[in-house]
Amino acid sequence: MDIKKIMEKMDYGTAPEAVDEAQNWLLGHKNRFGHFIDGAFTEPEACFTTYNPADRSVLAEISQASESSLDKAVASAQSAFQSWSQEAPHKRAKSLYALARLLQKHSRLFATLETLDNGKPIRESRDIDIPLAQRHFYYHAGMAQLMPIEMPERMPLGVCGQIIPWNFPLLMLAWKVAPALAMGNTVVLKPAEYTSLTALLFGEICNEAGLPKGVVNIVTGDGAVGERIVKHQGIQKIAFTGSTEVGRKIRQATAGSGKSLTLELGGKSPFIVFDDADLDSAVEGLVDSIWFNQGQVCCAGSRLLVQEGIAEKLIHKIKTRMGTLRIGSPLDKSIDIGAIIDPIQLKRISDMVNSADAGDVFQAQCETKEDGCFYPPTLITGLSPADPLMQEEIFGPVLTTTTFRTPKEAIALANNTTYGLAASIWSENINLCLGIAPKIQAGVIWINGANMFDANAGFGGMKESGFGREGGKEGLLAYTKPKRSRELIGNIKPFEGSIAASEHIDRTAKLYIGGKQSRPDSGYSHPVFDADGKFIAHVPKANRKDIRNAVEAANAAASWSATTGHQRAQILYYMGENLSARAAEFAVLLDRFTGKSDGELEVEQSIERLFAFAAYADKFSGELRDVPIRGMALKTHEPCGIIGAICPQKSPLLGLITVLAAGLSMGNRMILVASEISPLVATELYQILDTSDVPKGSVSILTGSHQDLAAPLAAHMDIAALWSFSSTEVSKIVETQSALNLKRTWVNHGYETDWEALDYSEFLTESIEPKTIWIPFGEG
Ligand code: NAI
Repeated sequence: MDIKKIMEKMDYGTAPEAVDEAQNWLLGHKNRFGHFIDGAFTEPEACFTTYNPADRSVLAEISQASESSLDKAVASAQSAFQSWSQEAPHKRAKSLYALARLLQKHSRLFATLETLDNGKPIRESRDIDIPLAQRHFYYHAGMAQLMPIEMPERMPLGVCGQIIPWNFPLLMLAWKVAPALAMGNTVVLKPAEYTSLTALLFGEICNEAGLPKGVVNIVTGDGAVGERIVKHQGIQKIAFTGSTEVGRKIRQATAGSGKSLTLELGGKSPFIVFDDADLDSAVEGLVDSIWFNQGQVCCAGSRLLVQEGIAEKLIHKIKTRMGTLRIGSPLDKSIDIGAIIDPIQLKRISDMVNSADAGDVFQAQCETKEDGCFYPPTLITGLSPADPLMQEEIFGPVLTTTTFRTPKEAIALANNTTYGLAASIWSENINLCLGIAPKIQAGVIWINGANMFDANAGFGGMKESGFGREGGKEGLLAYTKPKRSRELIGNIKPFEGSIAASEHIDRTAKLYIGGKQSRPDSGYSHPVFDADGKFIAHVPKANRKDIRNAVEAANAAASWSATTGHQRAQILYYMGENLSARAAEFAVLLDRFTGKSDGELEVEQSIERLFAFAAYADKFSGELRDVPIRGMALKTHEPCGIIGAICPQKSPLLGLITVLAAGLSMGNRMILVASEISPLVATELYQILDTSDVPKGSVSILTGSHQDLAAPLAAHMDIAALWSFSSTEVSKIVETQSALNLKRTWVNHGYETDWEALDYSEFLTESIEPKTIWIPFGEG
């Protein structure tokens, strides 16, 4: 027999991983767990069973946290925060380093326990999940050490409530716990109810590492426990990874509470293959993308978009490869596809696939002797882009596909989703890949690769995939706040007065939309008085329709977002120059509108602000991130798109100019709602915008009630981000109303912003959407 024949006939033997250590650990706890609170396990309380999804055998009984258990965990974290947040950074670094070392030391135990509990192939937990978790702790040990140097103006938030899913139990814990601890926060973490075990083991490791009691607390239970964490008064930040549906509920529940929030939600990520791609590599990329972890991955490349000319050839290759995938016991080291987490999820997947009333369903003939939760790798071809299976997250080993002809069409299809988490682009033409990467609305782009992650590279999404990043310095911003102290703004009311008979001439300002002054849709306006109660003019009351018009104009001005930093700087300088020419006039107006006498200073500061953001326009750019692959990860700064901003009541010129200049400098199109107290400062700016070559539609200015305009701004799907510098009530409306579309919000919760000593980095960071582009190197 020649070698070829031997190779063809050769079958895999089984190579099961030993589970003794994991079983002994479970036995050591009598297969029954309480919570890990204040450095010790509590007595188990009302329990539910956790199973091995591969054979449905019982692994352990897990406690459902009661209200009092959660209260204890939060109290312990609060008390630990007092000292942990004051600890020398080097001390925190040493603790994180010790955790990394111990994760390494116990890696086999963690890997087997993870596979038993979750059903993922041991190959993945051993080679991907656990090493990446270790890497996260090493990286953040460094971040803890460098915090005073790299982030001198930031401080920890307090107690962080962290709620994680079941698909990467330990890895998601690492992504949440390591940055929180590094920045001096303490943690109450709830693992998903299906997969609590490695989190509980991690509790033990915390003690072994000598972590002070209460710095990490693990409470177990289902969504009801998660809900209580979200609403708990003693928690300052919620970090959540899971379904978009629950993400929405959390946004709503935290709205107006002042809690910091990051959401990492679902996805329907495109996997785009051009006709010049290395097809064999692309097929292997697909295996890593959609069949990794049984497709239960938020960033799985679940939508294959393939260029028409090669579609048939590629589909044939994929089907052939699917036939060689091995499905079976996740503990077998030569298995590709393990078990689905639970019968509920298995049913969800098969119901979705069975609902397909279009397209051709192909399933690999991989057999398994196991009778746990298994689902075969599946490919559905011939779907239209609008088909529910092309739009909805299946969260299983199911690949859906459609074709495209041109790069432009590929981009349109890729963006034809409510999600925006990740994308994979395959072409041997790197220029094409790099040209397309910025045009895809997603937080992470992999070029000729898939599912690459690292602690030094931000991960997270846009649109309904959530907001915030995990990893890199950007991930740490979400676990810190500025050190400055802030005052509540208080209740500010417009000046009152009356209109003398002689003033009944029509003095009515207009809105500024699409580069033109326009009357409000409502036809209503209201009088504005100066500090002495003298009538100045009427200002229009904008409504929902005016917002729609402003968004339409901003959409038409999309090319602004593609201009260079140099061009944007020129416009901002020009605005500064034109404001300078009318400085004296604006100073007088400001004094009259505000009843103060510092108008001249405010105008000067506004001109300086325009210059400062002009300076940043071509300087606040991305960077190269050192990641452990042969290649690089680029962090790019992209405009958010259209930003709505409700401007401050006080500092009417400086506040509005700051917001406008920050957004414009980074290529956003801005829809501003002027101060209600002094709206006429804003209407006086129209002429300056006109004469400064600001492209039509890239800036719109509306006047009217902040409270009335906040909700329609938040609800508009095309507005990517919404800021409020107005009252506490307006902040709450913004957060509540944005729950449906999950837009990024930045609100002051009624606190003052220091417009004079501005934190530029905060404004710049809020004006960009960070994107990580992974570029592995080829030969040579
Ligand atoms: P889920 O979003 O319900 O669960 C994730 C975590 O949130 C769990 O710890 C859960 O206990 C907790 N939780 C549930 N309801 C909560 C609430 N109201 N408040 C606070 N916490 C709550 O996800 P589930 O039900 O396990 O899976 C359903 C679907 O969600 C999947 O089919 C998949 O499409 C998606 N999913 C997405 C994930 C991702 O990484 N993006 C991860 C897990 C699920």
